[in-house]
Amino acid sequence: MMAGRREGSLMRDKAQSFRGSRIVTAIVLGILLGCIFAFLFPHGFLSSYPPIQNRRFGKSDLQISSSQCESTERTTALKSDIASLSDKNDELKKEVQELTEKLRLSEQEKDHAHEQFSVLGKPHKAGPFGTVKGLRTNPAVVPDESVNPRLAKILEEVAVQKELIVALANSNVKSMLEVWFTSIKKVGITNYLVVGLDDEIEEFCKANDVPVYKRDPDERFDSIGKTGGNHAVSGLKFRILREFLQLGYSVLLSDVDIVYLQNPFNHLYRDSDVESMTDGHNNYTAYGFNDVFDEPSMGWARYAHTMRIWVYNSGFFYIRPTLPAIELLDRVAERLSRPEKAWDQAVFNEELFFPSHPGYNGLHASKRTMDFYLFMNSKVLFKTVRKDANLKKLKPVILHVNYHPDKLPRMQAIMDFYVHGKQDALEPFPDGSQW
Ligand SMILES: *[C@@H]1O[C@H](CO)[C@@H](O)[C@H](O)[C@H]1NC(C)=O
Repeated sequence: MMAGRREGSLMRDKAQSFRGSRIVTAIVLGILLGCIFAFLFPHGFLSSYPPIQNRRFGKSDLQISSSQCESTERTTALKSDIASLSDKNDELKKEVQELTEKLRLSEQEKDHAHEQFSVLGKPHKAGPFGTVKGLRTNPAVVPDESVNPRLAKILEEVAVQKELIVALANSNVKSMLEVWFTSIKKVGITNYLVVGLDDEIEEFCKANDVPVYKRDPDERFDSIGKTGGNHAVSGLKFRILREFLQLGYSVLLSDVDIVYLQNPFNHLYRDSDVESMTDGHNNYTAYGFNDVFDEPSMGWARYAHTMRIWVYNSGFFYIRPTLPAIELLDRVAERLSRPEKAWDQAVFNEELFFPSHPGYNGLHASKRTMDFYLFMNSKVLFKTVRKDANLKKLKPVILHVNYHPDKLPRMQAIMDFYVHGKQDALEPFPDGSQW
């Protein structure tokens, strides 16, 4: 701010002295031109003597070219002044943006703390109508560095405000990983970490200046990490994530088939145990709706109302270091370790959403669905957004190529469209995969 004020007065001084010198130049030029014309046209402008006219042109050419030269120099100087000032202006704007973001974060924290205090404090009466709020922002666990001192050290360096993006990768997904971290770097995100599942990926990350963490050898899961397909690795991630939460960090878990277009940390609410992107494609499917089931034989009661919501995407979610969040990870990991085949995303959603019932204690975790236009899945992009002139102008925070098997070319096209401004980059692809 101080810098801004100084810059402002500097600008004013410069402008004033420049205006002054322009006036002086104009007066001097006027007098000079007057003298010249008086000398060349003692009989006034209207007499026509060709040779004198020629001489007049010769002289005034000289005048014009010297003043032109001067003004070109001045224009160049001014242009560079303007350029440096607008650079400064951009810097200041960015600073203001950052400060606003910090303010928003601290307000957010204050609200959460207030909510926690009012619910967890000593017993109290319910307040007046409309003022009562349950707890959704659970308190964070006390960090326990002893679970993994080596990881704790890495996180201390990489995380920003105790949060970071984490992705698991083995060399099967190397080329996608490259697009992934290229987009992250381009946005200017620094708090991200790749959990390398084999040596090749570790080397690859190091060679590209990408923060990487390779776990200590662990017989129980290592074969999964090295040779596992997509779903097996997905199971592993719930076990690995646990340590991050135990160390007190919030994690934005990210698959590698994702392109970053803005910094996601500027678009989180942080009020829930799990804040997740959705597989839904419109307000209903993403945020939940009342789906009426019709059974005509029931006559008067033919309509049964059901609650529906498209699943959360277990490839991109923000998870806070709370007890319900850790319980969720444990429950999912435990179910995936059973012999019967299960899809981690289905298990993740069942654990999150099914209520307690006879013989079953449900998880009581708070959850929030991310804005499906900001945290966009590839169905929304290819089915809707690319065909809509207005939606096309919108810049998502991330794009997840979760609905399409030709992930790499679609990721590259997304980079071309949103980052390199290639307007027709998304056109060659069909809406869905053609098997
Ligand atoms: C979807 O919901 C948003 C707010 O959540 C609203 O602004 C928008 O108009 C809704 N769109 C439709 C098509 O209902």
